[in-house]
Amino acid sequence: MAISSELPRHNVHFEPDNIKIQVDPGANLMETAVAAGVHINASCGGAGVCGTCNILVKSGRVESIRTDKISQKDYNRGIRQACQTRIFSDLNVEIPVGSRLEKAVLSREVEEVSAQKPVALVSGWSFNPPVKKVFLELPKPTMEDNVSDLSRLLRSIKQQCKLENISVNAEILTGLARILRTNNWQLTATILLEANSSCRVINIEPGDTRKGHYSLVFDIGTTAVRGQLLDLNRGKVISHCIDYNRQISYGEDVISRIAWSQKTGGLKRLQKAVTATLNDLIKGLINSADIEVQSISHMVVAANTVMTQLLIGLDPKYLRLSPYVPTISNVPLLKAKSIGINTEEHVHLYIVPSVASYVGGDIVAGILGTGIHQSDKITLYIDIGTNGEIVIGNSDVMLTTSCSAGPTFEGGGIKHGIIATSGAIEGFEINPSDFEPVITTIDSAKAKGICGSGLINIAARLLESGIITQNGKINTDFPTKRIRESEDGYEYILCKKIETQIDKDIVITEIDLDNLMRSKAAMYAGYKTLAKNIGINLTDIERVIIAGTFGNNIDIKNAITIGLLPDLPRDRFFFIGNGSLLGSRLISFSTDLLYHGETIANKMTNIELSENTEFMSDYMAALFLPHTNMDEFPSVTIKKGKKS
Ligand code: FES
Repeated sequence: MAISSELPRHNVHFEPDNIKIQVDPGANLMETAVAAGVHINASCGGAGVCGTCNILVKSGRVESIRTDKISQKDYNRGIRQACQTRIFSDLNVEIPVGSRLEKAVLSREVEEVSAQKPVALVSGWSFNPPVKKVFLELPKPTMEDNVSDLSRLLRSIKQQCKLENISVNAEILTGLARILRTNNWQLTATILLEANSSCRVINIEPGDTRKGHYSLVFDIGTTAVRGQLLDLNRGKVISHCIDYNRQISYGEDVISRIAWSQKTGGLKRLQKAVTATLNDLIKGLINSADIEVQSISHMVVAANTVMTQLLIGLDPKYLRLSPYVPTISNVPLLKAKSIGINTEEHVHLYIVPSVASYVGGDIVAGILGTGIHQSDKITLYIDIGTNGEIVIGNSDVMLTTSCSAGPTFEGGGIKHGIIATSGAIEGFEINPSDFEPVITTIDSAKAKGICGSGLINIAARLLESGIITQNGKINTDFPTKRIRESEDGYEYILCKKIETQIDKDIVITEIDLDNLMRSKAAMYAGYKTLAKNIGINLTDIERVIIAGTFGNNIDIKNAITIGLLPDLPRDRFFFIGNGSLLGSRLISFSTDLLYHGETIANKMTNIELSENTEFMSDYMAALFLPHTNMDEFPSVTIKKGKKS
């Protein structure tokens, strides 16, 4: 970031968060925001082409090129693209509503998760964490019993814990003699259980520290990172946290992150961004639970394959090049500190294994948590995000795939699409008497855009009422003044300028509908391809488990109406919230489950869709609302429009 370390540094003040940071002259404003933990939308990862990172320079000197993403009028009043701006004096910067990623909405998610009853469907495990703390009172050495301190320690562990094949981390030796002699030969050993009934002493502490024994679990998503602090004595979640993944300022999706990683120093920067996110969250978890960092004993992370590789600093380039091979699927146990995570030296990080380039440990953890690998019931497991990850199977067979649903469900590719943040339209109804829309927004704030679940609700209601047709066109014969023609074709006005935060009408366009159809068609064709490969029909599916935050907010009926979900009886659908955290939590609680992840990952067969002709024909058939074959959607009734 530095141009010259001899020049005085500049103070940058971000509003409205009131965050301050010092930088060297010439620092890039977007990178400064990342370093300060200020979240700015950056869909294109700083390429300068998306125009989502606009900020207002209220005072100070910057250098920036004006692109066509900023009007001359806005430029004159101080609007700049953060990614294209360099800092040359102390600065006051405001992040306008449209560019802000608000943490408050993420916090709301944490509250909702905390209130949820944990759903653990996997069976056959007992509470037996893979890391234990054991209090030992060693007999003092005598002339008759003068074995070494280490042998004395291992002998006690063997006797007390009935453990064999015990190894030790070399670091514990440094303090061993002193701890024993200054604490009356009493200490607490932290023991990591490993495969093949062996174990390793990873830490020793003076006296009895068994009370403080915690684990951290994280789901590293492309957009947000969610974490929990677990009490390993009581098997309880004691605090939750969530924040945007700081990598978001290097691009919204995994493709732009991969592209960023190829720049000089890019991989290192992305790795630092995610570890900085984790470190902030760890600090928050520890503070809110009022515990010491020394009492963290273990850590589990589940993530998609790109996030996993970036976390451990592996070049993700080949994940997006045919034949789409990850560098590693089963990451060996790592010391968390070795990759920049602020924990004590002894904390080992278990990363849930992945299946393929686009089917990661987050899905494996979800399968583990829901016990699909143990059940006879044919289950469809769906995690909808930028990539729709799908699994169909049971204890006999599991097929998985990842289909590029595009960013639609996260607000991308939609004229007024936004992520599920304050002011996002999520509820939508049509008043049957005057056909006027009735909208509800997140936090009941003034409307700012449309989030993914809102988009589904809007499309379903417009379809049912005949305002749009089954081929995703706006029915211009419909008796409403809300339909108008624009340069992008016809559009429907959801919310008038005066009712919005963005000083313009919020609309849904035919292009938006087209993008939605492509996304939902990709998902539906994905289910069908997997079902056919297993030799079943979609109607044979006995359970549909929907994971993820977005999944939690989906209205099942509306999702079926537009053809995003298969038309099955509603009692077959289940929401599990964050499947990735569910599985990671259970792995932290039970040695029995620790290696289920590997078994599941090895058992799953990945079907690559990019060159699958059957998928392509199912995809084409699904490019209709809900589908070209209405026999597949018997419960959906819609009014026919002029253009269908
Ligand atoms: S234009 Fe700045 S992130 Fe896209």
